[in-house]
Amino acid sequence: MRLLQLGFFLALASGLSALLIYIAGVSDLYTTTKLSDQDLEALQSLQNGFKKCVSKNGLGLQAVTKGSDYCQVTLNFPTDTVPKWKDPKTGQLEGLSFEFNLCEAVATWEQVRNSTTILTREFIDALPNGWEDYAWRRINKGVLLNRCENKTLCLEKLSLVLPKTPPYVPKQFDRCAVIGNSGDLLQTKFGKEIDDYDVVIRENGAPIENYTEFVGKKSSFRLLNRGSAKALDKVIELDETRKEVLIIKTTIHDIMNKMIQEVPINNPVYLMLGASFGSAAKGTGLKALEFALSICESVDMYGFTVDPGYKEWTRYFSESRQGHTPLHGRAYYQMMECLGLVKIHSPMRADLSRVVHSVPSHSTITAARIASEKLLRRVGAGSEDPLHACSIRKKPAKREPADVSGLRKAAVDHQKIVRGATMYPLELHPGRGLLCTLPAD
Ligand SMILES: *[C@@H]1O[C@H](CO)[C@@H](O)[C@H](O)[C@H]1NC(C)=O
Ligand SMILES: *[C@@H]1O[C@H](CO)[C@@H](O)[C@H](O)[C@H]1NC(C)=O
Ligand SMILES: *[C@@H]1O[C@H](CO)[C@@H](O)[C@H](O)[C@H]1NC(C)=O
Repeated sequence: MRLLQLGFFLALASGLSALLIYIAGVSDLYTTTKLSDQDLEALQSLQNGFKKCVSKNGLGLQAVTKGSDYCQVTLNFPTDTVPKWKDPKTGQLEGLSFEFNLCEAVATWEQVRNSTTILTREFIDALPNGWEDYAWRRINKGVLLNRCENKTLCLEKLSLVLPKTPPYVPKQFDRCAVIGNSGDLLQTKFGKEIDDYDVVIRENGAPIENYTEFVGKKSSFRLLNRGSAKALDKVIELDETRKEVLIIKTTIHDIMNKMIQEVPINNPVYLMLGASFGSAAKGTGLKALEFALSICESVDMYGFTVDPGYKEWTRYFSESRQGHTPLHGRAYYQMMECLGLVKIHSPMRADLSRVVHSVPSHSTITAARIASEKLLRRVGAGSEDPLHACSIRKKPAKREPADVSGLRKAAVDHQKIVRGATMYPLELHPGRGLLCTLPAD
């Protein structure tokens, strides 16, 4: 009865979409996905904080919400912004207004922070029909392998990039920097500052030599798209120390296998196993952020975003190229900053000690994440169990818990809370469930 009253009250107070939430709540009466008053307050409080944060840190961006909608926000650039980028297909200039779903973003990105984003043998083995339905898709021309009919052959092709268990755990590293390839990097000498991070993550063919003043020297990881991965022999020359860990976003190719063995390439090479964020977030840059968020306590980004008055989108080491949506990108990264996921560094935000004002607090984010999981009917929504989102749980025989000796306290604490589980994203799974492997009893 109380729920009914609340439903009417909300409908009257805030219109149709509240009514819809109410109906969704009622039809879910027998599951745990009802939204409580607290949930609605949490979403409201996230929205309010978010709007403030965007207006304080967004260099002119404003977040606008539609009265009663708890999730949709529109980020608007000032009307005098001059877009420079034209869609090569339609010839149209990029717009000045972008819509995002905050609930979707907070639920998905918070999950990334506890997930493992490296493909392992343990994952394929634990996934129902992992070899037949999944593994061959990560091999170039895998279709020819007849869904890994010959598993030995399939494994042979993957073996050089397939560790048994995850090489990294959540929160293993403290401060990480992800370096994009924007031409803006040449405006500020960020080099020294970047080298001070515990971990530096770069992308594709980004050079270090001749640019160290601007982009630093340190390089711990490099995310590679298909094109760059095919030139693996050239990529390893970009890092003098030859210690960079290479992470391939797409598929393993026979050419790469051959290079790893024959060049030889001694750097560790892995395949990334990522969540999908829809078309807004497919590029190497976002994948690099996703990877960083899955292993680091804090993530700072350099060379990703265009400041007001930008002239064109270029890379710091070559001519401009097509395929970018710089304003959309800036809006998306601003959303990430105002969800407390990253901190943006750019020519106009170059002060290392810059404080991101009005970021919603940790407790607001957590409460809003829980409410969003319910609203989006994610697996295990509303449960307090830290393994709530695990739609598939496996205890592989003899699986040892991750070796946590020598790890940061935060990483060890996290392992304790999740009972030594490893959580893998299940890309196309309804409700965004996770595959979780647990240590054997
Ligand atoms: C499977 O592949 C392996 C490795 O290439 C090969 O030695 C073996 O003969 C293949 N088995 C079958 C049944 O084709
Ligand atoms: C750095 O500059 C030198 C001299 O101009 C050039 O030979 C070399 O190829 C450059 N290195 C990179 C990675 O661009
Ligand atoms: C992630 O793990 C932490 C423990 O380190 C836990 O408190 C939090 O609820 C987890 N987040 C999600 C989305 O499962």
